Amino acid sequence: MGHDVRRHRDLEAVSTAAAEELAQYVPQVVAEKGRFAIALSGGSTPKRLFEILAKMGKSALPWDRIDVFWGDERTVPPDHADSNYRMTKEALIDPLRLDPNRIHRIRGEEKDPENAVKAYVEELKPLTPEGGVFPVFDYVMLGMGSDGHCASLFPNSPALDEVTRWFVANPVDSPLTKGKTIRLTMTAAVLNWGTRIRFLVCGADKAPALREVLGGPPNPRVYPSQLIQPKAGTLAWLVDDAAWGEAARGASAS
Ligand code: 6PG
Repeated sequence: MGHDVRRHRDLEAVSTAAAEELAQYVPQVVAEKGRFAIALSGGSTPKRLFEILAKMGKSALPWDRIDVFWGDERTVPPDHADSNYRMTKEALIDPLRLDPNRIHRIRGEEKDPENAVKAYVEELKPLTPEGGVFPVFDYVMLGMGSDGHCASLFPNSPALDEVTRWFVANPVDSPLTKGKTIRLTMTAAVLNWGTRIRFLVCGADKAPALREVLGGPPNPRVYPSQLIQPKAGTLAWLVDDAAWGEAARGASAS
């Protein structure tokens, strides 16, 4: 079955498209449910989207009803240069003066990562629907590394096999993580329950992995983004021309 690939010229166009979808979708959900839960991705790609959302102003979205989570975090303090929270704070939270009670930060500073895991599971519990097993996000934002990882689900890492736990401390070893480290990450078991799951993938360095993830044989241990298969919602890929490139020509793109 073809993938929902939405191709855009560049990072700016991808980010603008994502912001426009959120501007249309969030008010609908808030009107229905009175609240909205979003899981943000980290890394560098979403920064432009956050800046665009900030520029749109606080009235563009019902921010006082939006609960902000992260799909993953590095095991660093919140003011560290590598902190996903810090990037979001600078690009979005501070400019819009978002309510700290709606910001659900992963405690990357915990000396024992398991303490961060326990704390985040508590933060996630209210998102679990009556009779449900997993927390449900209205929107799951994901990036993809040049190795095909998403969140902190890195190739051949233990978290790839997790089918019941929601959130784990995942030992990883990758050039993309500057070698061995622990990453705090939601599992595919949770991410797949997102109502709208959106990958934002930009840059030529992503093209080879994108080709494999979208057009290659199932190989999720090597290309963990293949684990993202929505249980009840929709998955779309917002990609720029550079990431789509020639390499991914095999997959269909709308
Ligand atoms: C992280 C992210 C990670 C990211 C990809 C892409 O903590 O780094 O959650 O999954 O989305 O590595 O990163 P870039 O956007 O920097 O290419």
